[in-house]
Formats: sequence, C-alpha cells, structure tokens
Amino acid sequence: MQSSGSVVGVGQAPEAIRSRDRQLSPFEWYAEMRQETPVCYDERRETWDVFRYEDVNHVLKDHDAFTANRTLEADESSNGGSDEMPMLQTMITTGPPEHNRLRGFIDERFQPGAIREYQPQVEKVTAELLDDLENKQQFDFVDEFAIPVPVIVIAELLGIPADRREQFKEWSDALVARPEDDTQEEIQRVQQGQQQAQQEMGRYFAKLLEERQGGDGDDLVTLAANAEELSRGEKVGFCILLLLAGNITTTNLLTNTIWSFEEEGITNDVRTGAIDHEQAIEEALRYRSPIQSLKRIATEDVELNGQQIQTGDILTLWLGAANRDPEVFDDPEEFRPERGSNRHIAFGTGVHFCLGAHLARMEADVAIEQLLERFDRLDADLSDLQPLSSLYGLESLPCEVSMNAH
Ligand code: HEM
Repeated sequence: MQSSGSVVGVGQAPEAIRSRDRQLSPFEWYAEMRQETPVCYDERRETWDVFRYEDVNHVLKDHDAFTANRTLEADESSNGGSDEMPMLQTMITTGPPEHNRLRGFIDERFQPGAIREYQPQVEKVTAELLDDLENKQQFDFVDEFAIPVPVIVIAELLGIPADRREQFKEWSDALVARPEDDTQEEIQRVQQGQQQAQQEMGRYFAKLLEERQGGDGDDLVTLAANAEELSRGEKVGFCILLLLAGNITTTNLLTNTIWSFEEEGITNDVRTGAIDHEQAIEEALRYRSPIQSLKRIATEDVELNGQQIQTGDILTLWLGAANRDPEVFDDPEEFRPERGSNRHIAFGTGVHFCLGAHLARMEADVAIEQLLERFDRLDADLSDLQPLSSLYGLESLPCEVSMNAH
C-alpha cells in the first residue's frame, strides 16, 4: 500500500500495519499516531512518519526545505539517468526550477478543457468493456473493469497499439510490486523484476519516440518526441511515468469507490441520483486514498511540529492519515458523500500536484455512471477482501449483477 513519490521503489510497510486487516484498515493506527506522535522516527525503516494534515501539506508545499528528488537518497545515488533507469529523469522526482521544463510542455493537455475533449473516447472504452460484461451474472470488478479502463485510456492517449496492452499491464505490475516478506531473496526478486520491466519499457519507448519524431500526430508520444526542451532519456521517462502514474492509481480509485458504496449501502442511491456521483467519488478519494503515502527528503535542517529534522533525512507523508484529520474534516472516519467542501490531498499538493487529476476524475465519473446505468443491480462480495500488495486497493472484488431491462 505504501508508495514512494517516484512510483518505482521497493518500500517496506511499517510494522504496525503489516497484517492483512491493518493493511485494509490502517485508519486506527493513523488516528493514534496523529494524536500521540504526529511526527516520529521509525528506526527500522529509517524514515520520519508524518501524520497530520497541516504538517503533510506544509512539507509538500515547502519545495526549498523538502525535495522529491530520490537521487539524494544515499542507497540509490548510483542509479544515474539512462534509458535503462529513466524514472529518475521525470517531473515527479525533480524540483523547481527544472520541474517547470519537464512538466510545462504537457501541462496544457491535462487541463480541464483538454480533458473534456477526451471524454467521448473514455465513454467508448467504458461502453465496450460493459458490452463484454453484459452477458455475465458475475465478474471480478478489479480484473474485468477497474484495471482495463485506465490501461486502455492511457494507451490510447499515448497512441500505443492495442496488441501491446497486455504487455503494458505486466510491466506496470512489476514496477509497483512490493516484497511479500522481508527476506533478502524476496526483495531481490522484486527489484530484479522492476529493473527488467524498466529496461524493456525504456527500449520500447525509445524506439517509438524515434519513429514519431517530426510527425504531426496528436498522441502524447508524438508530443514528447517533438519537445525540443527534453533530452532523449527525459522523453522516455515521461512516457513511462504517464503509464505508471495513471494506471494502478485510477484502478484503485474505481475499486475503492465501489467498495465504499457497497459497504455504506448507497450504490442504489448513487444510481438514482439521490446521491451525487461526482461528490461521492470525491469522498472516496478522501476516505480511501489510492496513494496512502509519499516520500520527501529534507534539503536543510528544519523543525517540523517540534521535531528536529536533519539535512538528508527521509520523510514518509501519510496522505491517508492527513485526509482523516479531525482538525480539517468533520467526522473524518465517516463516509459522507454530501460533504460540501472536500479539501482532501489524495492528489498531493504543491508543484507535484497530480498532472492526471482531471483525467482520473473524468474517467471515474464516466466509468461509475455508465456501470450503474447498465446494471440495475450490483452486489459486491465484501466477505474476503485481500489488500493489494502495492498502493491502497484490493486484489479482487467479486460482483453479482443483473441488467437494466429498460
Ligand atoms: C503525481 C495521485 C492519476 C499522472 C501524483 C501525486 C499524487 C497522485 C498523490 C503527487 C506525487 C508527489 O507529490 O510525489 C494520483 C491518484 C490518481 C492519479 C490518486 C487516480 C485516482 C493519475 C493519472 C495520471 C497521473 C490518470 C496521468 C495520466 C501523474 C503525474 C504526476 C502525478 C505525471 C507527477 C506530477 C509532478 O511531479 O509534477 N499523482 N494520480 N496521475 N500524477 Fe497522479
């Protein structure tokens, strides 16, 4: 469930939330930590854990004192920038002013106006997936709906041929995998899988970028290929970042939304419009944030909520805990879709605020609305939930459905 800010990275979960139940529901632990030790050092993981909204928000916005640049992490400084390890050359791990150059060329394409233009494409992708599910009475919501929607949408935006999609899913799974135990062999296995996937993706995109350079296509690979301000490695890094940052996160948003609706017994009210689906999805982002934590590194000695942080110290910022902070949200442990202003930070904040936030919201709005329109009954089986080993979501969510006769 834990992630590093750079998407790639073999992180360890804190001892307190390693059991299956605690992974599914780390929220009691968050509440205890927010109250007792809101900024505290974990010797085993060698990181400061930060739990309160105000502190998390502050660190994310203070780009002078805290950086997302992982090359400063001592044990990873050997991973220089090449096509083989392109993750280190992307906007997500680069601070201002360089960050502007890496994000500026594409920012416009992810603004609400541009995203609205993609909506018909997303509607078509969703409708086709639902056509395939129509004849089934049971299906796995995660495998058969929540995973394919974002994978196909991003592949289409990048202009990736359809026959490559399965391969992309395998690569992105390998890149966000987390060791299942603490043994050296398991950690090495996961790291090797990540390295191999990165190398293969790097080679694939390097070739595609070369082919499209000078072209006038509207896809994002062509746009990156023609961006003169980016180096070859930075273009490759950008393509891989989009694919990774947008897939499992959006899958988890869809899954966590239906999981929450079913748990609260409000699926029907959302279907009929008695509960506004856009607001309900926003509440799912707060209540079950797909990314529960981000990493930062201190670039100077600084005090945070009474604790002395030293230059080079690593911080783990618990978005999931900040999003349930009672100082900011009324009844934070309750799922309340009618919440008026929802100041959650599930998409981060500051210069690294999620590039794909508008796209993710639009995808979720379209996918959830169409799903509930298509089936007039949807029952999810919540009896044996398995947490995902990376980020915050579920391995599967079995659903029984019946069709809308009208
Ligand atoms: C950054 C969450 C979907 C692309 C981020 C960050 C968060 C986040 C928390 C900040 C990382 C940091 O500060 O270290 C999410 C969630 C999503 C989602 C919860 C779905 C529900 C997407 C999609 C795309 C995308 C669909 C693209 C197609 C990016 C990129 C960045 C980013 C490129 C880096 C921005 C920068 O560093 O300037 N996302 N994301 N994300 N996200 Fe998303």
